[in-house]
Amino acid sequence: MTRPATPHKRATAKKGAAKGTKSGKARYHEPTPAKTDPQAFEQVVRSRRSVRRFTNAPIPSDVLDACLDLALLAPNSSNLQPWAFYKVQTPKKKQALVRACLNQNAARTAAELIVVVARTDTYLENAKDNLRAWPDGEVPKLVRDYYTKLVPLMYSQGPLGALGLAKGVVTNAIGQFRPMIRGPFSAAELKVWAVKSTSLAAENLMLALRAYGYDSCPMEGFDEARVARLLRLPRGASIPMVIAAGMRADDGIYHPQIRFDRARFVFTV
Ligand SMILES: Cc1cc2nc3c(=O)[nH]c(=O)nc-3n(C[C@H](O)[C@H](O)[C@H](O)COP(=O)(O)O)c2cc1C
Repeated sequence: MTRPATPHKRATAKKGAAKGTKSGKARYHEPTPAKTDPQAFEQVVRSRRSVRRFTNAPIPSDVLDACLDLALLAPNSSNLQPWAFYKVQTPKKKQALVRACLNQNAARTAAELIVVVARTDTYLENAKDNLRAWPDGEVPKLVRDYYTKLVPLMYSQGPLGALGLAKGVVTNAIGQFRPMIRGPFSAAELKVWAVKSTSLAAENLMLALRAYGYDSCPMEGFDEARVARLLRLPRGASIPMVIAAGMRADDGIYHPQIRFDRARFVFTV
């Protein structure tokens, strides 16, 4: 079994070195990564299946944390990281979560249950954190303005959604004449915004588990109100999925993978 090479730790922002530009200003440069292995990636992607039965084998905590660290490296909107992952390990809470997942086999047999949460209430704090975490010196004005002015304007919906509504009207009017970013203009659209980035992180998590020899099943068959109560989630948190994870049992997959003809989904225009 592959184990994480090093204990999980926060990734640092310092990867490359500053290089000179024409104007004499230093510009960040990150070297092109060493050769990657497409076959290894393909093996991970192709062997991932939704597993409905797991063995009793636990997932070592360092492996699970390494997979979660990889989840947190997912691309995300404006680097606002609108996600949270809850490892539900307290026996009583886990039991309640299995029940809230309607006692599905995947949930019942999972070594680990991870609740994937999308947050629409953290973007202001995380915008400030982007400025605090800015590597190496002065934050460029463009970046500062983006996080202090544009982000609050783009994502705030105002009391009773009035600001969102107004932004929608103005944007649609100006949008007749030039390209405009169309939203989010309501709480529902803001939720979609958070769920997009969070789901990418969830996929990273499932692929990382596979890469370490473990398996997963994403589940939306659960009682969201009950799970939110169990975790005491704040308003502005929604749950795109619960991920069951563990070691695949021999009878863990119910049927061969079915995908339709790519011509139905892939278009060249
Ligand atoms: C958002 C989402 C919700 C899902 N919910 C459930 C679920 O509640 N229970 C379950 O057994 N599988 C669930 N699945 C797994 C899908 O059924 C599965 O991904 C699909 O049938 C394709 O199979 P594969 O993942 O093995 O390729 C879910 C998948 C996604 C992406």
